[in-house]
Amino acid sequence: MTDLSTEKMVPFLDLSLQYDALKNEIDSAIQSVFKDSSFVLGPALKKFEDEFARYCHVDHCVGLNSGTAALHLALLAMGVGPGDEVITAANSFIATAEAISFCGAEPRFVDALLDTANLNSDMIEAAITHRTKVIIPVHLYGQPAEIDKVLKIAAAHKIMVLEDACQAHGAVFHGERVGTFGHAAAYSFYPGKNLGAAGDGGAVVTNDAELAARITLLRNHGSEQKYHHDIVGHNFRLDSIQAAILSAKLPHLDLWNKKRREIARFYDEKLTGVHGISPMCVIDGCEPVYHLYVIRTAERDVVLQQMKEMRIASGIHYPIPIHLQPAYQYLNLEEGSFPVSEELSKSVVSLPIYPDMPKADQERVVASILKASELMKSRS
Ligand SMILES: Cc1ncc(COP(=O)(O)O)c(C=O)c1O
Repeated sequence: MTDLSTEKMVPFLDLSLQYDALKNEIDSAIQSVFKDSSFVLGPALKKFEDEFARYCHVDHCVGLNSGTAALHLALLAMGVGPGDEVITAANSFIATAEAISFCGAEPRFVDALLDTANLNSDMIEAAITHRTKVIIPVHLYGQPAEIDKVLKIAAAHKIMVLEDACQAHGAVFHGERVGTFGHAAAYSFYPGKNLGAAGDGGAVVTNDAELAARITLLRNHGSEQKYHHDIVGHNFRLDSIQAAILSAKLPHLDLWNKKRREIARFYDEKLTGVHGISPMCVIDGCEPVYHLYVIRTAERDVVLQQMKEMRIASGIHYPIPIHLQPAYQYLNLEEGSFPVSEELSKSVVSLPIYPDMPKADQERVVASILKASELMKSRS
């Protein structure tokens, strides 16, 4: 019998492997910024913005210092302010809602679909009021939301759409990349993201030149000309070093996403139909990029305990839906307000996934889930 206590831990992700593979490109990208000494708003930023816009099939990309800043400035540029409402998913990372709050507006949450964890677009219409300015569909876990339905509703009500693509770099919906459907899309380059910087980073992409210009102004103290400030802005610029690192990594993104899909296919094959375990579904015509690979189980404690015993890292995305976070207590949305999001928060488990994850580790992850399933079965 294997002595599990001496087995190497299976990490949730291992970014050092990515650096080892790209060391030369990344090191020389950093050195070139030092040589140039243009650390802020320099040519490395412009280069990355052009490359990422091309990758996303859009006209404009504005580099920012986080995905949160990208959501925030996109909303401000769309004219969102006090008294407005913005519709978004109760089941997301809190930054989606925070960006709305930063504008002085109020989030109006919509519940999730149980089998994809993405927002339930059939519930959007009921959440629309005369104050609704923007809808933010979140492509959660790297799975495209039902963006066609969202666009139809938004167009009928003349509401703008901001895609939260912070977990979905390169994901495809009906043949086109997510991030091209709405009026704008926000990306995060947090290190663990499918395209990650060596620190915080983000961007807004859009085909709307006016929105891009407004965000460019807002990210740099409302200034186009040094010490001339047209509006009150922010310091939300993407550093040149991060931009240069992102430029070095971008050519590899499609291959990394392909590898993530292969791992997801392996997990799907091994875990679909297994007692007590439900992998997330993919909606027709979509190619997710599996920022996260998430399963649902009614007996999460058993799964987490088994993974721990077999020295496998796990995650929960997310353990508390946004409407039940203390930060949003003021909205008075009690337990039961968004039952599917609440159910997901109690039943989801994220399994390790990253492009260069060794096959042996993938097999250990599967073995741990199958063992947990056996335990559940023997007790039922
Ligand atoms: C769905 C979603 N939206 C927004 C963000 C915010 O991005 P950042 O951490 O770069 O501010 C994240 C980051 O995890 C996210 O997952």
